[in-house]
Amino acid sequence: MLTWEGVRDIVVDPDAVLSRAELIAALSRALDLTEGEPMGHAMRACWIGMKIGQALELSLAERKELYYGLLLKDAGCTANAQQVSAWFGTDDRTAKYALKTVNWSNLWSATRYAMGQAKPGAPWHVRMQQMVSIGKRGPQAARELVAMRCTRGADIVRRLGWADLAPDAVLNLDEHWDGSGHPRGLKGEAIPILARILSLAQTVEFFWGRSGSNTARAIAEKRRGTWFDPQLVDIFLVLSRNANFWQELRLVTSPRAIAQLDPAPSRISLTTMEQLLQVAHIFGEIVDSKTSWTAQHSVRTADYAGKLAQILGWDKRQQQDTVLAGFFHDLGKVGVSNLILDKPGPLDTKERQAIERHPELTFNILEPIAPLRSIAHVAASHHERLDGSGYYQHSSGSDIPGGGLVVAVADVFDALAHARPYRRQLNVDEVLALMRKEKGSKLWAPAMDALEWGLAHRIIDAADTDASGV
Ligand SMILES: [Fe+2]
Ligand SMILES: [Fe+2]
Repeated sequence: MLTWEGVRDIVVDPDAVLSRAELIAALSRALDLTEGEPMGHAMRACWIGMKIGQALELSLAERKELYYGLLLKDAGCTANAQQVSAWFGTDDRTAKYALKTVNWSNLWSATRYAMGQAKPGAPWHVRMQQMVSIGKRGPQAARELVAMRCTRGADIVRRLGWADLAPDAVLNLDEHWDGSGHPRGLKGEAIPILARILSLAQTVEFFWGRSGSNTARAIAEKRRGTWFDPQLVDIFLVLSRNANFWQELRLVTSPRAIAQLDPAPSRISLTTMEQLLQVAHIFGEIVDSKTSWTAQHSVRTADYAGKLAQILGWDKRQQQDTVLAGFFHDLGKVGVSNLILDKPGPLDTKERQAIERHPELTFNILEPIAPLRSIAHVAASHHERLDGSGYYQHSSGSDIPGGGLVVAVADVFDALAHARPYRRQLNVDEVLALMRKEKGSKLWAPAMDALEWGLAHRIIDAADTDASGV
């Protein structure tokens, strides 16, 4: 039997030191998943880009912004996931990964790409219909997709605290030296220098990971003067002639390793939690943007979870920790295909297995950040249930961290109170009727009591849920 006292977690140690570079590097691995890349892509692109920046003798101010521009280059990537999946009728992550293998400036490559991605595995006539639908959207569609991602990405980088160069680099990441890029078709030196570095670094990392260093060098050379600034390619070719370049790149395996390259290291205060909560809030929004069905879900879950902790009498610190876990809880969902998240019907076994991996991915993303390890456990346990019927660890009873039990109630409440592709939005009475059936067996009774009390006293505002109607 769980007791009140038994579920109080002391999670974040206020005296622990959290490096800003390490935090952002760890979270960049969530952005990799959305792009269909292996975790670590952005960190390695950062390493490559910083080497080029050093060789160019950029100023300290430029290198500071370059570092975070590289790590956060895909911050807007969830903004177009739903559209990519719907337009191509395929897994958004696979489509995005495949997109990087082709030269979009070349019409034939682009056509072959579209043919390869349109509803793979479907009958021929269905694939053709999908192709026609992609064709009707025209070249404007690609521009729209890129604009959606880059504008949102730049906005996020700005909100994370970079005012100028880094957001501008992310905004212009997909522009090409010859003017064939998107969204504005900027040419040559009209493209900000940091954006030109981001573009080259991410492509080099992609082809290195896929086919090795020779291919990475060959692609850079082939796209010299078309996609990439010739001067940057020349610098890269000189740097990468040395075998040490690739050996060192291979060592960039952890957020801590890449954090060493931050030209102006700084710390995030764990005493006030303000900065950390702001970063977590923004990453919660990134997750929520993956599909319109979950718009603002993590943000509301964090809010409800914090209020439940407050009603339960947890101290200020524990309330903040619970809010933090609420923002982060679905981080792993960025690694789930939109074909599954947006499916308007029951999931098959394989799809269910894929979605049930998301708490584990949440854990994997957060786990390397040592001061936040207990938050990782709390966030990743939001689908565990008291009777052991949850996932992904199938924990039961007091093996589930208390914060996780609270986030679970907040999560279920918000999920049921909003429409999903497979069911309508439920009103608060319907939500509570369903949740009461699981009170004490699956959902922790004190957190359920706190929810009902909070709703009755309008500390938790039911209007928040009914009004949004996603
Ligand atoms: Fe979840
Ligand atoms: Fe959730």
